Amino acid sequence: MRLKIEKFVYGGHGIGYDEGKSFFVPYTLPGEEVEVEILKDKKSYCECELKRIVNTSPLRQEPPCSYYQLCGGCDIQHTPYQNQINLKVEMLKEQLIRVGKLDKEIDEVVVESMEAFRYRNRVQFKFDGKNFGFYRKESNQIVDVSSCLILKEDIDELIRPLKRFLIKYGLCPSSIHIFSNEKNEKVVRFVFKDRSDLLNVVPRIDIIHEEISPLIRGVTFEADGQKLGLGEGFLFYRVNGYLFRVSIDSFFQVNKFLVGRLISKVIGEIGDEGFKRVLDFYCGVGTFSIPTGFYAGEVLGIESNDSAVRDAKANVRHNNLKNVKFLKAKVEKGLKYAFDFKPECIIFDPPRGGVGRDVIGRISNISQVRKIVYVSCNPSTLARDVTYLAKYSFNLRRIKLVDMFPQTHHIESISVFERD
Ligand SMILES: C[S@@+](CC[C@H](N)C(=O)[O-])C[C@H]1O[C@@H](n2cnc3c(N)ncnc32)[C@H](O)[C@@H]1O
Repeated sequence: MRLKIEKFVYGGHGIGYDEGKSFFVPYTLPGEEVEVEILKDKKSYCECELKRIVNTSPLRQEPPCSYYQLCGGCDIQHTPYQNQINLKVEMLKEQLIRVGKLDKEIDEVVVESMEAFRYRNRVQFKFDGKNFGFYRKESNQIVDVSSCLILKEDIDELIRPLKRFLIKYGLCPSSIHIFSNEKNEKVVRFVFKDRSDLLNVVPRIDIIHEEISPLIRGVTFEADGQKLGLGEGFLFYRVNGYLFRVSIDSFFQVNKFLVGRLISKVIGEIGDEGFKRVLDFYCGVGTFSIPTGFYAGEVLGIESNDSAVRDAKANVRHNNLKNVKFLKAKVEKGLKYAFDFKPECIIFDPPRGGVGRDVIGRISNISQVRKIVYVSCNPSTLARDVTYLAKYSFNLRRIKLVDMFPQTHHIESISVFERD
């Protein structure tokens, strides 16, 4: 069927309408006329595949990556970076209006450069014994790649030696995780399906150095809860003068250009306020708690991942702080400590599911809280949480888009709420 694409919506699809029904078509742009095939026909909407562009948008470009549309990673490479930003601003505003019932301009857009490639410091490759790369969109078939343009060069350069190494030693991990720091040092984690696969691993770091890269500081081979480690399990990552220990199992912000700017923007909301106590929920390795320790009286970070909490505690020492503490707990369970701590400011940086009604309802009972800085990687759950926060008189004052994920539809933002 033929469709006119009316707008671009969160999720990375163009959307067109016919007889009251919405049609989602990836890899399209507003204003384009396209021919599509319906893949899934639901009650109020259809998911479609793009077959032919009848009328091309002037904002369409040839995607720089030769795997684009095969690989499920990037989904907006078909338009120049400046337009990607414009689309993201519109998508964020649209989520705030539709879900958050709030008509709000985006106060600032933070980008590093108009190049917007070679930014990722972390990757998860897939391997099936033959193909090494990434899953196709909505599939677990692997697209074999020899390069990926959004990866830091030093990670990209590992693709060929890694694949060669795995084939030479008869290893077939289902996923290979790599994290690289600003000095291009790396930690690598191979995850296998079965414990018996661990019998084939090469238990020598010098072989890994020779065959893959001398900058690999540590490797773990894992299967079904069993782990074999060689060398270090973590790296040190220096950002804005702070030193972060980050283990291969801990979360860390993926954009090497913008992690420092993200921290500065969050600290910009906290630094001058003279807060006595700041609570950092979903704190990871202390990416915001550690810098906050230099500006607030006391900081408490709450995080459920064991490895991240161990890193966070080490980071207190590495940054010569005494006023920052961490608690290993799920946020939902750690709330009672939040009450005793009496924070004046709360930082939220949840995973994609957002914070949710229960946690927001409960923190609203902490009378001391006057400011919330909410870092979000999902505008839908952010917009939903805006409505819950508004119910408790936390009103959105500022929202900034920080483009941590160029070439993809993903949107990172910092929202600041104050209690009326
Ligand atoms: C988006 S990351 C943010 C981490 C950190 N703020 C940073 O910038 O590096 C979300 C973090 O929340 C943690 N997490 C996920 N669910 C959680 C929960 N229910 N309670 C506490 N932490 C949780 C994850 O382990 C992860 O470290």
